[in-house]
Amino acid sequence: MNGIKFFPKNLEITNKRIFLRVDLNVPLLKGKILDHTRILLILPFLQELIKRKSRIILISHLGRPEGKKEKELSLNPIFQYLKTKIKTKVFFHTGNINEEAKNKSLGLKEGEVLLLENIRFFKEETENNEKFSRQLSELGEIYINDAFSCSHRKQSSIHKITDFFKNSYGGPLLKKEINAVNLIIKEKKHPVTCIIGGSKISTKINVISNLIKNVDNVVIVGAMANNFLMYKGYKIGKSLIEKNSKEVIKKIYTEAKKNDCKIIIPEDCKVSKSFEGKSEIRDKDKIGDEEIVLDIGPKTVKSIEKTIDNSKTVLWNGPAGYFENKNFSSGTNAIAKKISENTNNNSLISILGGGDTIAALNKSDLKLSFTHLSTAGGAFLEYLEGKDLPGLSVLK
Ligand code: 3PG
Repeated sequence: MNGIKFFPKNLEITNKRIFLRVDLNVPLLKGKILDHTRILLILPFLQELIKRKSRIILISHLGRPEGKKEKELSLNPIFQYLKTKIKTKVFFHTGNINEEAKNKSLGLKEGEVLLLENIRFFKEETENNEKFSRQLSELGEIYINDAFSCSHRKQSSIHKITDFFKNSYGGPLLKKEINAVNLIIKEKKHPVTCIIGGSKISTKINVISNLIKNVDNVVIVGAMANNFLMYKGYKIGKSLIEKNSKEVIKKIYTEAKKNDCKIIIPEDCKVSKSFEGKSEIRDKDKIGDEEIVLDIGPKTVKSIEKTIDNSKTVLWNGPAGYFENKNFSSGTNAIAKKISENTNNNSLISILGGGDTIAALNKSDLKLSFTHLSTAGGAFLEYLEGKDLPGLSVLK
Protein backbone atom coordinates (compact mmCIF):
# COMPACT_ATOMS: atom_id res chain seq x y z
CA MET A 1 0.00 0.00 0.00
CA ASN A 2 1.52 3.30 -1.18
CA GLY A 3 4.86 1.49 -1.29
CA ILE A 4 5.47 2.09 2.40
CA LYS A 5 7.63 -0.49 4.17
CA PHE A 6 5.79 -1.57 7.27
CA PHE A 7 7.35 -3.23 10.28
CA PRO A 8 7.54 -6.93 9.33
CA LYS A 9 5.76 -9.07 11.92
CA ASN A 10 8.46 -11.74 11.91
CA LEU A 11 11.51 -9.45 12.10
CA GLU A 12 14.05 -10.69 14.63
CA ILE A 13 14.15 -7.93 17.24
CA THR A 14 15.31 -9.68 20.41
CA ASN A 15 17.83 -7.40 22.15
CA LYS A 16 17.69 -4.93 19.23
CA ARG A 17 17.46 -1.21 20.00
CA ILE A 18 14.29 0.10 18.37
CA PHE A 19 13.97 3.85 17.79
CA LEU A 20 10.23 4.34 17.99
CA ARG A 21 8.83 7.75 16.97
CA VAL A 22 5.35 8.15 18.41
CA ASP A 23 2.95 11.04 18.94
CA LEU A 24 2.56 11.78 22.64
CA ASN A 25 1.41 15.32 21.90
CA VAL A 26 -1.54 15.21 24.28
CA PRO A 27 -3.44 18.13 25.79
CA LEU A 28 -2.00 19.10 29.18
CA LEU A 29 -3.12 21.62 31.77
CA LYS A 30 -0.78 22.44 34.64
CA GLY A 31 0.92 19.05 34.29
CA LYS A 32 -2.35 17.13 34.15
CA ILE A 33 -3.07 15.03 31.06
CA LEU A 34 -6.50 16.07 29.77
CA ASP A 35 -6.89 13.31 27.23
CA HIS A 36 -5.00 9.99 27.15
CA THR A 37 -6.13 8.70 23.73
CA ARG A 38 -2.83 9.14 21.91
CA ILE A 39 -0.91 7.42 24.73
CA LEU A 40 -3.35 4.53 24.95
CA LEU A 41 -3.15 3.98 21.19
CA ILE A 42 0.61 3.46 21.18
CA LEU A 43 0.52 0.96 24.05
CA PRO A 44 -0.33 -2.31 22.22
CA PHE A 45 2.69 -2.04 19.93
CA LEU A 46 4.93 -0.87 22.73
CA GLN A 47 3.84 -3.85 24.80
CA GLU A 48 4.49 -6.18 21.89
CA LEU A 49 8.04 -4.83 21.51
CA ILE A 50 8.62 -5.25 25.23
CA LYS A 51 7.31 -8.81 25.15
CA ARG A 52 9.55 -9.61 22.21
CA LYS A 53 12.51 -8.44 24.29
CA SER A 54 13.68 -5.52 22.19
CA ARG A 55 15.12 -2.38 23.80
CA ILE A 56 12.98 0.63 23.05
CA ILE A 57 13.92 4.27 22.66
CA LEU A 58 10.72 6.28 22.61
CA ILE A 59 10.61 9.73 21.01
CA SER A 60 7.89 12.35 20.76
CA HIS A 61 7.32 16.07 20.66
CA LEU A 62 4.85 17.99 22.80
CA GLY A 63 3.47 21.32 21.65
CA ARG A 64 5.63 23.84 19.87
CA PRO A 65 8.39 24.98 22.26
CA GLU A 66 10.51 26.31 19.36
CA GLY A 67 13.82 24.95 20.60
CA LYS A 68 13.38 26.19 24.17
CA LYS A 69 13.10 24.01 27.26
CA GLU A 70 9.65 24.99 28.49
CA LYS A 71 8.78 23.32 31.78
CA GLU A 72 5.07 23.10 30.98
CA LEU A 73 5.88 21.22 27.76
CA SER A 74 7.95 18.54 29.48
CA LEU A 75 7.02 14.92 28.74
CA ASN A 76 7.39 14.17 32.46
CA PRO A 77 3.62 13.76 33.11
CA ILE A 78 3.47 11.31 30.21
CA PHE A 79 6.51 9.47 31.56
CA GLN A 80 4.78 9.14 34.96
CA TYR A 81 1.63 7.83 33.29
CA LEU A 82 3.52 5.39 31.05
CA LYS A 83 5.19 3.86 34.10
CA THR A 84 1.78 2.92 35.46
CA LYS A 85 0.75 1.35 32.15
CA ILE A 86 3.68 -0.85 31.22
CA LYS A 87 5.23 -3.55 33.31
CA THR A 88 8.87 -2.90 32.65
CA LYS A 89 11.58 -0.43 33.64
CA VAL A 90 11.03 2.94 31.94
CA PHE A 91 13.78 5.57 32.05
CA PHE A 92 13.51 9.27 31.19
CA HIS A 93 16.40 11.10 29.52
CA THR A 94 16.20 14.86 29.98
CA GLY A 95 19.68 15.77 28.79
CA ASN A 96 21.18 16.44 25.38
CA ILE A 97 21.40 13.97 22.52
CA ASN A 98 25.03 13.04 23.09
CA GLU A 99 27.29 10.22 24.27
CA GLU A 100 25.41 10.10 27.58
CA ALA A 101 22.11 9.51 25.78
CA LYS A 102 23.78 6.90 23.58
CA ASN A 103 25.21 5.11 26.61
CA LYS A 104 21.78 5.08 28.23
CA SER A 105 20.30 3.46 25.14
CA LEU A 106 23.15 0.94 25.01
CA GLY A 107 22.65 0.22 28.70
CA LEU A 108 19.00 -0.77 28.27
CA LYS A 109 18.24 -4.39 29.07
CA GLU A 110 15.84 -6.54 27.04
CA GLY A 111 12.29 -5.23 27.28
CA GLU A 112 13.27 -1.89 28.85
CA VAL A 113 12.21 1.53 27.61
CA LEU A 114 14.04 4.85 27.43
CA LEU A 115 11.80 7.86 26.86
CA LEU A 116 13.51 11.03 25.60
CA GLU A 117 12.36 14.46 26.78
CA ASN A 118 10.31 16.55 24.29
CA ILE A 119 12.38 16.37 21.12
CA ARG A 120 11.30 19.90 20.12
CA PHE A 121 13.28 21.26 23.08
CA PHE A 122 16.10 21.07 20.51
CA LYS A 123 15.76 23.59 17.70
CA GLU A 124 17.54 21.11 15.42
CA GLU A 125 14.46 18.91 15.48
CA THR A 126 12.25 21.30 13.50
CA GLU A 127 15.22 22.30 11.31
CA ASN A 128 15.50 18.71 10.05
CA ASN A 129 19.16 19.07 10.97
CA GLU A 130 21.53 16.51 9.55
CA LYS A 131 24.05 16.35 12.41
CA PHE A 132 21.33 16.17 15.04
CA SER A 133 19.52 13.45 13.08
CA ARG A 134 22.70 11.41 12.90
CA GLN A 135 23.27 11.75 16.63
CA LEU A 136 19.67 10.76 17.30
CA SER A 137 19.93 7.77 15.01
CA GLU A 138 22.88 6.46 17.03
CA LEU A 139 20.46 5.66 19.84
CA GLY A 140 18.80 2.87 17.86
CA GLU A 141 19.37 0.13 15.30
CA ILE A 142 15.93 -0.08 13.70
CA TYR A 143 13.74 2.96 13.02
CA ILE A 144 9.96 2.83 13.30
CA ASN A 145 7.61 5.74 12.68
CA ASP A 146 4.30 5.01 14.37
CA ALA A 147 3.16 8.63 14.30
CA PHE A 148 1.01 9.16 11.22
CA SER A 149 -0.15 12.39 12.86
CA CYS A 150 3.38 13.83 12.66
CA SER A 151 4.31 12.53 9.22
CA HIS A 152 3.49 15.83 7.49
CA ARG A 153 6.44 17.39 9.34
CA LYS A 154 9.83 17.48 7.66
CA GLN A 155 11.66 17.25 10.97
CA SER A 156 14.70 15.36 12.24
CA SER A 157 13.00 12.51 14.12
CA ILE A 158 10.49 11.96 11.31
CA HIS A 159 12.44 12.66 8.14
CA LYS A 160 16.20 13.25 8.12
CA ILE A 161 16.90 10.53 10.67
CA THR A 162 15.91 7.81 8.21
CA ASP A 163 19.04 8.66 6.13
CA PHE A 164 21.07 7.04 8.89
CA PHE A 165 19.16 3.79 9.31
CA LYS A 166 19.50 0.76 7.13
CA ASN A 167 15.98 -0.25 8.08
CA SER A 168 13.13 2.25 8.55
CA TYR A 169 9.55 1.09 8.87
CA GLY A 170 6.04 2.36 9.43
CA GLY A 171 4.49 1.02 12.63
CA PRO A 172 1.12 -0.73 13.00
CA LEU A 173 -0.79 2.35 14.19
CA LEU A 174 0.48 4.34 11.21
CA LYS A 175 -0.55 1.45 8.96
CA LYS A 176 -4.05 1.31 10.46
CA GLU A 177 -4.54 5.05 10.02
CA ILE A 178 -3.41 5.02 6.38
CA ASN A 179 -5.58 1.99 5.60
CA ALA A 180 -8.65 3.70 7.03
CA VAL A 181 -8.08 7.02 5.27
CA ASN A 182 -7.36 5.22 1.97
CA LEU A 183 -10.57 3.26 2.25
CA ILE A 184 -12.57 6.41 2.83
CA ILE A 185 -10.93 8.21 -0.09
CA LYS A 186 -11.82 5.25 -2.28
CA GLU A 187 -15.37 4.80 -1.04
CA LYS A 188 -16.41 8.38 -0.45
CA LYS A 189 -19.78 9.35 -1.90
CA HIS A 190 -20.92 12.82 -2.89
CA PRO A 191 -22.04 15.22 -1.53
CA VAL A 192 -18.88 15.42 0.54
CA THR A 193 -18.68 17.95 3.36
CA CYS A 194 -15.46 18.92 5.08
CA ILE A 195 -15.77 20.63 8.46
CA ILE A 196 -12.63 22.43 9.57
CA GLY A 197 -12.12 24.08 12.93
CA GLY A 198 -9.59 24.28 15.72
CA SER A 199 -6.91 26.81 16.43
CA LYS A 200 -3.92 25.47 14.48
CA ILE A 201 -4.82 27.85 11.69
CA SER A 202 -1.45 28.05 9.96
CA THR A 203 -1.41 24.27 9.48
CA LYS A 204 -4.82 24.10 7.90
CA ILE A 205 -5.62 27.28 6.08
CA ASN A 206 -3.51 26.46 3.02
CA VAL A 207 -4.89 22.95 2.90
CA ILE A 208 -8.44 24.22 2.44
CA SER A 209 -7.82 25.74 -0.99
CA ASN A 210 -6.67 22.33 -2.23
CA LEU A 211 -9.44 20.34 -0.57
CA ILE A 212 -12.03 22.47 -2.33
CA LYS A 213 -11.34 20.62 -5.56
CA ASN A 214 -12.64 17.35 -4.13
CA VAL A 215 -15.48 18.30 -1.82
CA ASP A 216 -18.92 19.91 -2.20
CA ASN A 217 -19.09 21.91 1.03
CA VAL A 218 -16.44 23.34 3.31
CA VAL A 219 -17.73 24.37 6.72
CA ILE A 220 -15.42 26.67 8.65
CA VAL A 221 -15.75 26.75 12.44
CA GLY A 222 -13.52 27.32 15.50
CA ALA A 223 -10.82 29.96 15.56
CA MET A 224 -10.37 29.34 11.84
CA ALA A 225 -13.72 31.02 11.19
CA ASN A 226 -12.58 34.30 12.79
CA ASN A 227 -10.36 34.95 9.79
CA PHE A 228 -13.23 34.42 7.40
CA LEU A 229 -15.53 36.72 9.38
CA MET A 230 -12.82 39.38 9.38
CA TYR A 231 -12.27 38.91 5.65
CA LYS A 232 -15.99 39.49 5.11
CA GLY A 233 -15.68 42.78 7.01
CA TYR A 234 -17.13 41.78 10.40
CA LYS A 235 -15.56 43.00 13.62
CA ILE A 236 -14.33 40.10 15.74
CA GLY A 237 -13.16 41.95 18.87
CA LYS A 238 -10.23 40.26 20.61
CA SER A 239 -10.64 36.88 18.92
CA LEU A 240 -7.72 34.71 17.85
CA ILE A 241 -6.64 35.30 14.25
CA GLU A 242 -3.87 34.35 11.86
CA LYS A 243 -1.82 37.25 10.51
CA ASN A 244 -1.78 37.72 6.74
CA SER A 245 -4.60 35.31 6.02
CA LYS A 246 -6.37 37.67 3.60
CA GLU A 247 -4.67 36.45 0.44
CA VAL A 248 -5.21 32.77 1.30
CA ILE A 249 -8.89 33.34 2.04
CA LYS A 250 -9.31 35.27 -1.21
CA LYS A 251 -7.80 32.30 -3.02
CA ILE A 252 -10.13 29.94 -1.15
CA TYR A 253 -13.21 31.84 -2.35
CA THR A 254 -11.90 32.02 -5.92
CA GLU A 255 -11.16 28.28 -5.97
CA ALA A 256 -14.52 27.52 -4.39
CA LYS A 257 -16.35 29.41 -7.11
CA LYS A 258 -14.34 27.69 -9.83
CA ASN A 259 -15.01 24.24 -8.35
CA ASP A 260 -18.62 24.77 -7.37
CA CYS A 261 -17.85 24.23 -3.70
CA LYS A 262 -19.92 25.98 -1.06
CA ILE A 263 -18.07 27.71 1.80
CA ILE A 264 -20.13 27.93 4.96
CA ILE A 265 -19.03 30.28 7.73
CA PRO A 266 -20.79 31.06 11.04
CA GLU A 267 -23.96 33.16 11.10
CA ASP A 268 -23.73 33.69 14.82
CA CYS A 269 -21.39 32.81 17.64
CA LYS A 270 -20.89 32.52 21.39
CA VAL A 271 -18.61 35.11 22.90
CA SER A 272 -17.09 36.09 26.23
CA LYS A 273 -14.58 38.60 27.54
CA SER A 274 -12.32 35.79 28.75
CA PHE A 275 -11.66 32.14 27.94
CA GLU A 276 -12.93 31.16 31.40
CA GLY A 277 -16.08 33.29 31.19
CA LYS A 278 -19.76 32.60 30.61
CA SER A 279 -21.12 32.59 27.08
CA GLU A 280 -23.37 35.07 25.31
CA ILE A 281 -24.85 34.63 21.86
CA ARG A 282 -24.07 37.23 19.20
CA ASP A 283 -25.02 37.58 15.57
CA LYS A 284 -21.89 37.90 13.46
CA ASP A 285 -22.38 41.66 13.02
CA LYS A 286 -22.83 42.35 16.74
CA ILE A 287 -19.50 41.21 18.20
CA GLY A 288 -18.15 43.73 20.73
CA ASP A 289 -14.64 45.21 20.69
CA GLU A 290 -13.68 43.49 23.96
CA GLU A 291 -15.28 40.14 23.11
CA ILE A 292 -13.65 36.87 22.05
CA VAL A 293 -15.49 34.48 19.75
CA LEU A 294 -15.30 31.08 21.48
CA ASP A 295 -17.98 28.91 19.88
CA ILE A 296 -20.53 28.82 17.08
CA GLY A 297 -24.07 30.00 17.85
CA PRO A 298 -27.42 28.15 17.55
CA LYS A 299 -28.28 29.44 14.04
CA THR A 300 -24.92 28.16 12.79
CA VAL A 301 -25.47 24.80 14.50
CA LYS A 302 -28.81 24.42 12.70
CA SER A 303 -27.30 25.26 9.34
CA ILE A 304 -24.42 22.80 9.84
CA GLU A 305 -26.86 20.06 10.89
CA LYS A 306 -28.79 20.65 7.66
CA THR A 307 -25.59 20.42 5.64
CA ILE A 308 -24.70 17.13 7.38
CA ASP A 309 -28.19 15.79 6.62
CA ASN A 310 -27.60 16.54 2.95
CA SER A 311 -24.18 14.87 2.87
CA LYS A 312 -23.12 11.30 2.17
CA THR A 313 -19.56 11.74 3.42
CA VAL A 314 -18.35 14.04 6.20
CA LEU A 315 -14.72 14.74 7.05
CA TRP A 316 -14.23 16.68 10.25
CA ASN A 317 -11.09 18.15 11.73
CA GLY A 318 -10.88 20.57 14.64
CA PRO A 319 -13.38 21.56 17.33
CA ALA A 320 -15.99 24.27 16.74
CA GLY A 321 -15.12 26.16 19.89
CA TYR A 322 -13.09 26.43 23.06
CA PHE A 323 -14.44 23.12 24.38
CA GLU A 324 -12.08 23.18 27.38
CA ASN A 325 -14.67 25.50 28.95
CA LYS A 326 -18.03 23.69 28.86
CA ASN A 327 -19.79 27.00 28.16
CA PHE A 328 -18.26 26.78 24.70
CA SER A 329 -18.55 23.08 23.93
CA SER A 330 -22.13 22.97 22.62
CA GLY A 331 -21.21 23.63 18.97
CA THR A 332 -18.67 20.79 18.92
CA ASN A 333 -21.05 18.41 20.72
CA ALA A 334 -23.96 19.21 18.39
CA ILE A 335 -21.83 18.53 15.28
CA ALA A 336 -20.53 15.27 16.81
CA LYS A 337 -24.03 14.12 17.72
CA LYS A 338 -25.42 14.81 14.27
CA ILE A 339 -22.55 13.08 12.45
CA SER A 340 -22.80 10.07 14.76
CA GLU A 341 -26.60 9.78 14.35
CA ASN A 342 -26.34 9.95 10.58
CA THR A 343 -23.46 7.45 10.55
CA ASN A 344 -25.70 5.01 12.43
CA ASN A 345 -29.02 5.71 10.72
CA ASN A 346 -28.34 7.08 7.25
CA SER A 347 -25.10 5.25 6.38
CA LEU A 348 -23.15 8.47 6.33
CA ILE A 349 -19.42 7.85 5.85
CA SER A 350 -17.69 9.86 8.57
CA ILE A 351 -14.07 10.39 9.37
CA LEU A 352 -12.88 12.56 12.23
CA GLY A 353 -9.35 13.65 12.89
CA GLY A 354 -7.10 15.53 15.25
CA GLY A 355 -5.93 15.39 18.83
CA ASP A 356 -8.19 18.28 19.87
CA THR A 357 -11.26 16.86 18.15
CA ILE A 358 -10.76 13.54 19.95
CA ALA A 359 -10.12 15.31 23.26
CA ALA A 360 -13.31 17.35 22.81
CA LEU A 361 -15.39 14.24 22.12
CA ASN A 362 -13.89 12.32 25.04
CA LYS A 363 -14.76 15.24 27.31
CA SER A 364 -18.44 15.01 26.37
CA ASP A 365 -20.63 12.28 27.85
CA LEU A 366 -22.08 11.45 24.45
CA LYS A 367 -22.02 7.89 23.11
CA LEU A 368 -20.78 8.44 19.59
CA SER A 369 -19.82 6.29 16.63
CA PHE A 370 -18.07 7.19 13.42
CA THR A 371 -16.70 5.30 10.44
CA HIS A 372 -13.14 6.18 11.48
CA LEU A 373 -11.51 8.25 14.18
CA SER A 374 -8.00 9.42 13.31
CA THR A 375 -5.42 10.69 15.80
CA ALA A 376 -4.05 12.92 13.08
CA GLY A 377 -5.05 16.52 12.46
CA GLY A 378 -2.88 18.40 9.99
CA ALA A 379 -1.36 15.17 8.62
CA PHE A 380 -4.82 13.77 7.98
CA LEU A 381 -5.84 16.87 6.01
CA GLU A 382 -2.64 16.94 3.97
CA TYR A 383 -2.97 13.24 3.21
CA LEU A 384 -6.55 13.83 2.07
CA GLU A 385 -5.23 16.52 -0.24
CA GLY A 386 -3.23 13.79 -1.93
CA LYS A 387 0.14 15.15 -0.80
CA ASP A 388 3.16 12.91 -0.44
CA LEU A 389 3.90 13.42 3.26
CA PRO A 390 7.66 13.76 3.98
CA GLY A 391 7.54 11.28 6.87
CA LEU A 392 5.88 8.66 4.67
CA SER A 393 7.93 9.11 1.53
CA VAL A 394 11.10 8.21 3.46
CA LEU A 395 9.52 4.90 4.45
CA LYS A 396 9.09 3.81 0.85
C1 3PG B 1 -0.75 17.05 15.95
O1 3PG B 1 -1.18 17.34 17.07
O2 3PG B 1 -1.44 17.20 14.92
C2 3PG B 1 0.61 16.43 15.83
O3 3PG B 1 1.13 16.07 17.06
C3 3PG B 1 1.54 17.38 15.10
O4 3PG B 1 1.76 18.54 15.85
P1 3PG B 1 2.30 19.87 15.16
O5 3PG B 1 1.17 20.43 14.34
O6 3PG B 1 2.70 20.78 16.28
O7 3PG B 1 3.45 19.49 14.28
